[in-house]
Amino acid sequence: MRKQADNWLDLALVELDRGLKTLTHRSDAQSPRPGASEAEVTMSEARKQHTIGLMRINHTGEVCAQALYKGQAMLAKDPSTRAHLLEAAAEEQDHLNWCQVRLDELGGKPSLTNPFWYVHSFVLGAVAARFGDPVSYGFVIETERQVESHLQEHIDDIGESDPRSLRILQQMQADEIRHGENAQSAGGVELPKPIKGAMTAMSKLMKTISYRI
Ligand SMILES: [Fe+2]
Ligand SMILES: [Fe+2]
Repeated sequence: MRKQADNWLDLALVELDRGLKTLTHRSDAQSPRPGASEAEVTMSEARKQHTIGLMRINHTGEVCAQALYKGQAMLAKDPSTRAHLLEAAAEEQDHLNWCQVRLDELGGKPSLTNPFWYVHSFVLGAVAARFGDPVSYGFVIETERQVESHLQEHIDDIGESDPRSLRILQQMQADEIRHGENAQSAGGVELPKPIKGAMTAMSKLMKTISYRI
């Protein structure tokens, strides 16, 4: 009993450390940043602030992705599922880095609400994993579908007004589509409509808040 409590404490400390690193640490990206060779385009102040708001949403989305995958991996039933989730999280780390660097370039800051979204997504991932790997993969499918769709809105909005941000979003969208397809191939199930609706509502809330602060 004591040993089990120690194991849970170790696990909690490891996850706390990972969470703090995601929220504060700027790790290097494994892949080169798309659009890094594009020229910086001069934008009006209003356009720039709008682009910062959109990139802040995407940065928060990637914080959520880190937390979701890590929560799922922690309680995954199958070791191969855990490995698959951690591999996807490593790729999402590149997205997180690219968004952070672009925000820096634009003179923007990450959302102050990121710690809340990290905890929320981590718990969501852990709960999903408790229902078994097919449900857990189902969460990945639905999350990636929603992210892909909001990325399309941002791609249409930013367009060639900011090629350096645009190329990042285009590469992220291609990666998110692949993550969703991989989760489907791994046996992910379709989630019930009310769950999808709740996920959409939380995502809307996150976008509304992160755009502003
Ligand atoms: Fe991502
Ligand atoms: Fe993804």
